[in-house]
Amino acid sequence: MDANFLKTEIRRIAKEKNAIIMAHYYTDGSIQDIADFVGDSLALAQYAAKTDADIIVMCGVNFMGETCKILCPEKKVLVLDTNAGCSLADSCPAEDLKKFKDEHPGYKVVTYVNTTAAVKALSDVVVTSSNARLVVESYPKDAKLIFAPDKNLGAYLNSITGRDMLLWNGGCHVHGRFSLEAILNLKKEHPAAKVLVHPECPAAIQAVADEIGSTAGLLKYSINDDATEFIVATESGILHKMQAASPDKKFYPVPPEMTEGIGCSCNECSYMRLNTLEKLYNTLQTEQPEINVDPQLAAEAIRPINKMLELSK
Ligand code: 13P
Ligand code: SF4
Repeated sequence: MDANFLKTEIRRIAKEKNAIIMAHYYTDGSIQDIADFVGDSLALAQYAAKTDADIIVMCGVNFMGETCKILCPEKKVLVLDTNAGCSLADSCPAEDLKKFKDEHPGYKVVTYVNTTAAVKALSDVVVTSSNARLVVESYPKDAKLIFAPDKNLGAYLNSITGRDMLLWNGGCHVHGRFSLEAILNLKKEHPAAKVLVHPECPAAIQAVADEIGSTAGLLKYSINDDATEFIVATESGILHKMQAASPDKKFYPVPPEMTEGIGCSCNECSYMRLNTLEKLYNTLQTEQPEINVDPQLAAEAIRPINKMLELSK
C-alpha cells in the first residue's frame, strides 16, 4: 500500500477512534514520525499512565504493551505484532526468578522494565535505564538486593552506586553484540566523535563511552553536547531522532551499516523492526492484536511499577 495513503488513513482512524499512537525510539523512523508520542521506556510508561485516549497503540515490543495495559486496565491496548518479544525479557522466565528469590530470603527484587508481567509481579520495584540509579539508591547501601534480568546494566549500577546486588545472568541480543573493535576503528576515523553507549552493553563497551545512558539520555546528550560527531552504541533506530534534532551533527552507528557481503545487522532489534506502517494501519482498523493481562497478575505487577513512577516524579 502507498505510504502516503497509509499515513493519512492512520491519522484519520486514530482521531476517529480517540486512539493514541505511542512509539519507542528503536522503531523505524516512519513509525516515530507518525506517532503522537515517542519516548524511552520510562517516558512511555509515564505517558500511558496519564493519557485520556480510549485506545493505546503501542509501537514497540510486547512488554511495553503489557506495561500500558497494567497501568490502564480500562483502556484497549493494541500492539502491531505479538511476535515482537524481547530477548532480554525472555532471559528471565518468572518461574526461574521465583526459585532464585526463594533461595535468597530477605532480598528485595529490583527488575528492569524489560520483563513479563509475571516477573514484575515478583518484584519489589521496577526500573528503566533512565531511573535505575535513582531507584537503587533509594535503598540503603547495605540492603540485600537482587537485580534482574540485565547483567550488564546490573554490573554498571553496582559500579556507580557502590552496591553489591546479586545479578541475574540475562542480556539483550542487540546490545550484547556490539564490537569493541568496530568502535575503536570508528574512533580512529573520527577522533573528535563522542561515544554514546546504552548500559545494556557489556563493560568493555561501557569503558570507552563518553556517555552512558538510556535512549532518552543519549538523545539529550547528543543535543546538548558541543561535539559535532557521535558514535552510537545502541539500537540504530535512535539515530532517526538524533539526526532530526541535530541535522548538522554526524552520527555513526556501531557496527557500521550492513557491509556488502556481510549479512549482519546487529545494531537493529529484529523485534522492534516488526513494527511497520502497514501493520499500524491494520491494527487501528481491526483493533487487533489486543494485549490483555490477567487482572490478578496485573494487580500484583502494578505495585512495583507504581513504586518506580512515584520515585521518578
Ligand atoms: P530505554 O528506552 O529505557 O533506554 O530502553 C532501551 C531498550 O532496550 C528498550 O527495550
Ligand atoms: Fe529487548 Fe534488546 Fe530489543 Fe531492547 S533492543 S527490545 S532489550 S531485544
